[in-house]
Amino acid sequence: MTQAIQTGTAHFAANKIVVVNGPNLGRLGVREPDVYGHQDLKQLRQLCVAWAKEYGFEVDVRQSDDEAEVIGWMHQAVDRRTPVVLNPAAFTHYSYGLRDAAVQVTDAGLPLMEVHISNPAGRESFRRLSVISPIATGTITGMGFYGYKLAIESIAVLIQASQQA
Ligand code: DQA
Repeated sequence: MTQAIQTGTAHFAANKIVVVNGPNLGRLGVREPDVYGHQDLKQLRQLCVAWAKEYGFEVDVRQSDDEAEVIGWMHQAVDRRTPVVLNPAAFTHYSYGLRDAAVQVTDAGLPLMEVHISNPAGRESFRRLSVISPIATGTITGMGFYGYKLAIESIAVLIQASQQA
């Protein structure tokens, strides 16, 4: 059990989590509602704030269509020692740049939970490859917005475990 939640260095920014959403997730609610649901990014943000509060975290929910900006947020998470929830969206499937930035987060001993609203494994074949999953702490797919709650809860469990270690 402990092996599954090993995170390395037990040293995190006090009670902070960053939730990073990649391209086209600013279009939630409008974009393919059959796949991603009818709720928008603003509602996702409100839910994440409420869920994070349940675990005593403050959360910063961000979204960008710009790969460089998303990469910069990974660097910032490392420098500020902030655990990350990441929905890399389409970058999941091809961005080695984001992968190389995200691995710095986990290499620093910080949890990085990959989340997908849909289940990419059940969709087009190009979505079956994630270049992020191999370096993520864990991956949650197919649970809609609730996947973000599971990711936040996972981070709470990981931090608690690392502090008890
Ligand atoms: C997604 C799945 C990706 O394949 C897709 O490109 C997205 C959203 C999801 O949340 O299900 O933009 O990451």
